[in-house]
Amino acid sequence: MKKLIALLGWLGMSAAALAQTLTSPNGNLQMDFHLSADRTPVYSLTYKGKEVIKESRMGFRLRLAAEGSSYELNRDFRVLETRQDSADTTWETVWGQSRLVRDHHKELFVALEQEKTGRRLNIRFRLFDDGLGFRYEFPVQKRLRHFMLDEELTECQLAGDHKAFWIPADYDTNEFPISTSKLSEVLRLIDEVRKERLVCKSPTPNLAVQTPLMLKSDDGLYINIHEAALVNYAAMHLNLDAQTFLMSTHLTPDKNGVKGYIQTGSTTPWRTVIVSDDARDILASNLIINLNEPCKIADTSWIKPMKFVGVWWEYFTRGGSTWSYTNQLDITIGQTDYSQLKPHGHHGANTAHVKEYIDFAARHGIDAVLVEGWNEGWEDGSAYVKEVIYSFTKAYPDFDVEEIQRYAASKGVKIIMHHETSSSVAEYERQLPEAFSFMKQHGYDAVKTGYVGGIIPRSEHHDGQWMVNHYNYVAEEAAKYQIMVDSHEAVRPTGMYRTYPNWMAQESARGTEFESFNGIRQDHQTILPFTRLMGGPMDYTPGIFEGDLSVYGKNKAKVGTTLVKQLALYVTMYSPMQMAADLYQNYEKYPDAFQFIKDVAVDWDNTYILEAEPGDYVTIARKARGKNEWYVGGITDENSHEAVIDLSFLPAGKKYQATIYADGKKAHWSTNPKDYVISSRKVTSKTVLKQRLAAGGGVAISIREL
Ligand code: NOJ
Ligand code: CA
Repeated sequence: MKKLIALLGWLGMSAAALAQTLTSPNGNLQMDFHLSADRTPVYSLTYKGKEVIKESRMGFRLRLAAEGSSYELNRDFRVLETRQDSADTTWETVWGQSRLVRDHHKELFVALEQEKTGRRLNIRFRLFDDGLGFRYEFPVQKRLRHFMLDEELTECQLAGDHKAFWIPADYDTNEFPISTSKLSEVLRLIDEVRKERLVCKSPTPNLAVQTPLMLKSDDGLYINIHEAALVNYAAMHLNLDAQTFLMSTHLTPDKNGVKGYIQTGSTTPWRTVIVSDDARDILASNLIINLNEPCKIADTSWIKPMKFVGVWWEYFTRGGSTWSYTNQLDITIGQTDYSQLKPHGHHGANTAHVKEYIDFAARHGIDAVLVEGWNEGWEDGSAYVKEVIYSFTKAYPDFDVEEIQRYAASKGVKIIMHHETSSSVAEYERQLPEAFSFMKQHGYDAVKTGYVGGIIPRSEHHDGQWMVNHYNYVAEEAAKYQIMVDSHEAVRPTGMYRTYPNWMAQESARGTEFESFNGIRQDHQTILPFTRLMGGPMDYTPGIFEGDLSVYGKNKAKVGTTLVKQLALYVTMYSPMQMAADLYQNYEKYPDAFQFIKDVAVDWDNTYILEAEPGDYVTIARKARGKNEWYVGGITDENSHEAVIDLSFLPAGKKYQATIYADGKKAHWSTNPKDYVISSRKVTSKTVLKQRLAAGGGVAISIREL
């Protein structure tokens, strides 16, 4: 059969004769592949007979340095070979939303050759019960070795004017509010939204949205588009034709407009389409991690999920404390003797203050303390005037690294290092070995990195190939030192944490810091699980109890949730590194509510998506890893909601104690956020709780076996 197909392809037989069909293991999804009339590879996808993706083209526009001009590697192909395969395996996560992950898929491999040029391109499709993944493979070959990408020509022809949950395409940031509109409205609304954070330097006419993109069709299909295993390649954005709903790939260019430097013998990231008629299946999907490479770290025993507090939120409340130590600006990092400088007197990362946080963490069983503003370089943001933007080995004079190391160790608390690079990336790579050695010498085993601002000195984009390689390099290097990483302002994740499970979390979306600028709408956290979190855990930094920032003086912002919704986020916003972000004094004021944060797990045996509708509500239950404890979080948007919490996930025949943290009767995110009620009751696997969530509210439940 294989030989026959190869022969037909070679004879240039009709495309239909070479059509290939893949059916998902449960039969719900069907993928068709063939060569179109001009012998372009095309694919289409249906779910229970409904069109998800209509016939869509695939390929590349390439440029070879020697030839100068670009040409299209997307038509005039003949099929050299097709191969079908299947797999059904289960693998164990180092940490995650579940301990075991099943990888059950059918595979189609297609080898193509472009007739005129003799150049070859392979495509590998994997069809799971929850969606489709495919990637291109550039085999080693005679007529193609090194080349540049002008564009990847992968298209996705959607079947209608779906409702979209989107953020505007942008080469450098993903910290936008999420918009909800019909696809046909996106391009009309986009400029409005971009104004909120305009970074995109060269928008193309229809450059539309970022991925993960969440869609809902009028006939009730939920569709999620993203990518998996982004390695040595630029992040994908999507162009949109607002009339036909054709989405096409737009890779992030480098500063010269080149979208990728490729050497044959390599593969692209996987393009992913997750589909279901039940929104809960989207959140339960493991497709993206299944398409990532297995763990590359041999000994993972040092990788430990954690909760942490930090010298952090006080910088956002504008209550006075700052990252910087001095107001003096005539400084050359590495040469200036900071002990000779005049401190301004309200530096946050001072030894005494850090010790207060260590004491608090020790008292409450919180694993670690993040300290930002500990190192030289914060006094001036104008990176270009300095030779070195920050030192990652020199502490400010009032931050006693050794004393803090000793004190933290004596209390059994870890300190989390902070490396804000201000995107001075070449310099960061230069300092990296010393910076990581310095960390290990001083007892640190986790680092929060940051990439605020434009990339220095190359002016590359945050989402381009060069930076993608940088983020991956940092995770890989960190693993060699047994360091866990939480990156901020990096390219959004694509499931790489499977391969490097020391890459615990990322920000890469609008997080809690924006509450301090009045920048988070009530529906935001109900959408993020369907968009940003599809690629991996988010360091959302929940846990703000004092939502009225005017209490600190200068900041008039109000957090857009009830206090209970902040608790629920520990369950709904999955992360193995979870911050209790508020000032510790605010936790001391509400010890009964803080108990939930103390108790809640950060690593899970199992996850049960109980209710979900993007933009409206999400209710999730999880079983703590290795413990008979369950935690439930439910959140709603600006409307109140009755969550129906079916506890049938609990093992039957046993009795459990549930502690329920609920919005009070008069709770409302804006007028009465701190109205909460804590109650306790016995439950079994037969219990179905009906819980009212206030506008902008939530519910959090901890359950223990009796
Ligand atoms: C932005 C990060 O998201 C935030 O968490 C951090 O405090 C600041 N940059 C300073 O590094
Ligand atoms: Ca940020």
